[in-house]
Amino acid sequence: MKQIKIKPSTCALIAGAFAIAGALSGPRVATAAEVVSYQLDVKPILDSRCVSCHSPGGEGYQASGLDLSTYKGLMAGTKHGPIIVPGEPLVSNLNVLVEGRAQVQMPHNQRPLLAAQTGILREWVKQGAKDN
Ligand code: HEC
Repeated sequence: MKQIKIKPSTCALIAGAFAIAGALSGPRVATAAEVVSYQLDVKPILDSRCVSCHSPGGEGYQASGLDLSTYKGLMAGTKHGPIIVPGEPLVSNLNVLVEGRAQVQMPHNQRPLLAAQTGILREWVKQGAKDN
């Protein structure tokens, strides 16, 4: 039987093609085209990192009046007013505070959110901060 000889340069090409195929079938990364859901994506972040302080009885609620346990509370904001401008993550206090763009950072005196989490909050506000 005749052996097929592959030139080294062809080998490199094949390896490269496999590397690209691997990258394409790798972990899915959120894209702007994907719809971010309040219930599925946003609420779990607030529940795990904010609600212990920002619900009636918690220190964040006492200090600011902000109740993050419901969509209604999130949209009502603090005693000074809303923390979300739908469509505008750059000026929404929710995003400003979790992204460390102000002197105060949230969660208060705790480990910051992961970049993936601030990204979800940002994209959700950008998409209109809907109760979806
Ligand atoms: C350990 C308790 C604690 C946690 C956890 C916490 N906060 Fe706070 N939060 C506070 C306190 C206390 C204040 C009042 C701070 C102040 O007035 O200086 C506050 C204030 C705020 C304010 C109002 C700031 C202002 O005056 O404009 C926002 C918005 C806020 N928190 C968002 C969040 C978000 C979003 C999370 C979760 C990612 C979170 N917080 C997690 C304690 C907490």
